[in-house]
Amino acid sequence: MKRVLITGATSGIGFELTKTLCSKGHMVVATGRNSDKLAELCKLTGCYTIQADLSDSQQPLELFTEAVEKLGGLDVLINNAGMNSRKCGIDEFTVEEFDHQYAVNLRAPALLSREALKVMKLAKSGQIINVLSTVAKRSNETMSVYTAMKQGLAGFSAILMKEAQPHGIKVTSLFPGGTDTNFREVDRPQYMHPKSVAETIALLLELPQDVVMHEMVFRPPVEIE
Ligand SMILES: NC(=O)c1ccc[n+]([C@@H]2O[C@H](COP(=O)([O-])OP(=O)(O)OC[C@H]3O[C@@H](n4cnc5c(N)ncnc54)[C@H](OP(=O)(O)O)[C@@H]3O)[C@@H](O)[C@H]2O)c1
Repeated sequence: MKRVLITGATSGIGFELTKTLCSKGHMVVATGRNSDKLAELCKLTGCYTIQADLSDSQQPLELFTEAVEKLGGLDVLINNAGMNSRKCGIDEFTVEEFDHQYAVNLRAPALLSREALKVMKLAKSGQIINVLSTVAKRSNETMSVYTAMKQGLAGFSAILMKEAQPHGIKVTSLFPGGTDTNFREVDRPQYMHPKSVAETIALLLELPQDVVMHEMVFRPPVEIE
């Protein structure tokens, strides 16, 4: 049994991941803004829930403290929450959109990783999984701000790995391809089902002790890079 904190658990990949990890006997704190979805998840799985808005600079820190209290420690942090305001050209994005994406997609996971590192260093063990995207390996027109934040988090995550691993802490930068979730306004049935992505992420918690997965890139069969 591992004590796990998952952000972005009210929808898509995080929702399915919470169900998957709870069904495997892990103790999970699930977070998001949508209180109805958090209540549904709690009823379905028995997980703990914390409502928090990651676009705020203080709420990630408050939720982290509360999560560690509820769990009695922390073995795994999964920085899964993320969003893209919209697709648009570089001559169109607004300062508000940029700042919001920076706060949710880069600052919040960085702050949560910082706090987790402090707790896990004391325990001399732990695991941090940062959910990036295959966009971080590409240069898609109309996705500039989202890509910049995911590439920023990829750089942060790679350095986190180097600083954490000597302390017995495993860090994985996860690059999923297209997944059929509420992330987009339109359905994409040809993309990966969020349950399949959740089951793939859950494998990382079952790696042998002497294996660290630094990067994990996976896509639906319709995507060939
Ligand atoms: N779908 C894809 O094709 C795809 C591909 C590669 C990577 N990803 C990444 O995978 C992760 C999960 O995405 P998904 O596809 O499952 O999307 P989703 O269904 O839209 O879920 C996004 C989650 O992030 C949370 N979130 C968004 N803004 C937040 C905020 N301000 N404060 C707190 N939580 C917030 C949402 O919760 P609330 O609304 O309740 O706050 C929700 O639980 C994201 O990091 C995304 O970038 C997705």
